[in-house]
Amino acid sequence: MRIGVLTGGGDCPGLNAVIRAAVLKGTEAHGFEFVGFRDGWKGPLEGLTTELTPEVVRHILPVGGTILGSSRTNPVKVEGGIERVRSTMAELGVDALLAIGGEDTLGVATRLHAEGIKVVGAPKTIDNDLSATDYTFGFDTAVQIAVDACDRLATTGASHHRAMIVEVMGRHAGWIALHTGMAASAHVTLVPEAPYDLDAVAATVKGVLDRGEAPLIVISEGALPAGGEVVHTGAELDAFGHVQLKGVGEILERGLVERLPDLATRVTVLGHLLRGGTPTAYDRILGTRSGLSAITAIAEGNFGTMAALVGTEVVQVPLADATGELKVVTPARLDELAHVSG
Ligand code: F6P
Repeated sequence: MRIGVLTGGGDCPGLNAVIRAAVLKGTEAHGFEFVGFRDGWKGPLEGLTTELTPEVVRHILPVGGTILGSSRTNPVKVEGGIERVRSTMAELGVDALLAIGGEDTLGVATRLHAEGIKVVGAPKTIDNDLSATDYTFGFDTAVQIAVDACDRLATTGASHHRAMIVEVMGRHAGWIALHTGMAASAHVTLVPEAPYDLDAVAATVKGVLDRGEAPLIVISEGALPAGGEVVHTGAELDAFGHVQLKGVGEILERGLVERLPDLATRVTVLGHLLRGGTPTAYDRILGTRSGLSAITAIAEGNFGTMAALVGTEVVQVPLADATGELKVVTPARLDELAHVSG
């Protein structure tokens, strides 16, 4: 059997772990051959390939990014796109696809499966917002980077008696902010799921300053004040209809300074730093186990499924379960955080 592998959407640490595990196990245990498709769905759409053998993948476990490249190309939005994917597979003798991606990439995989193409998924996203899996690889690394940054920002904030505002990724789901806020003992954590009250945030900041501490505020890029609107760069929407978010930290800063004129603040946008570099051990292991599970699914003909972490086990669940609805931060998790913030 010949398997085409691709990585789509925003990259994240751990992608190479999946590729490596899939190729090593697929070759050794099942005699599969592999074709690397370059740059996400653009690969099968345009026939862009790269060699994928055990020799190529053996040492890539600690390497950040993806050796296959990525893109936000959407074959469903391209005229005749699905048929082009099908004909590329036929020309290259590719029997099945392993699509490693988030909501968008796996949404395409779900559609291709419905169109009769053999496909299995592996979920990735630093945002941790995919349903049907407890955690996605990339998330642990992103949170660790954000916590390290917050620890550093907190000490310089304390030296200068400043409120430090730290903007992290998280478009619709605030998991990165939630975990960072808890692990870095932020005084305030703001997420997209709970529009914030600026007066209440200002009161908390004042209280922290009054007791001689420097406020640390973590905010998701998609967090908004109650009644506020999404803040973005105005750049074109991508092929999946997403805007490019930017600026919530500065908006929060302006709102706080209006209410507390003596407040000294600095805003740090962590952005793509959270997606770069080597994965944590946790993400290396989760990525590896996801790749191994995906190969078992292919060997067993269990197509239209995705490798999901449920408790401590990696199991196959229907792709549609993962892509139907985003997994967002629950009120219970926000309530937990509230008890150790402020
Ligand atoms: O992959 C998800 C994500 O990291 C979001 O958190 C963020 O909004 C987006 O990707 C950024 O995308 P890009 O790399 O296209 O700027």
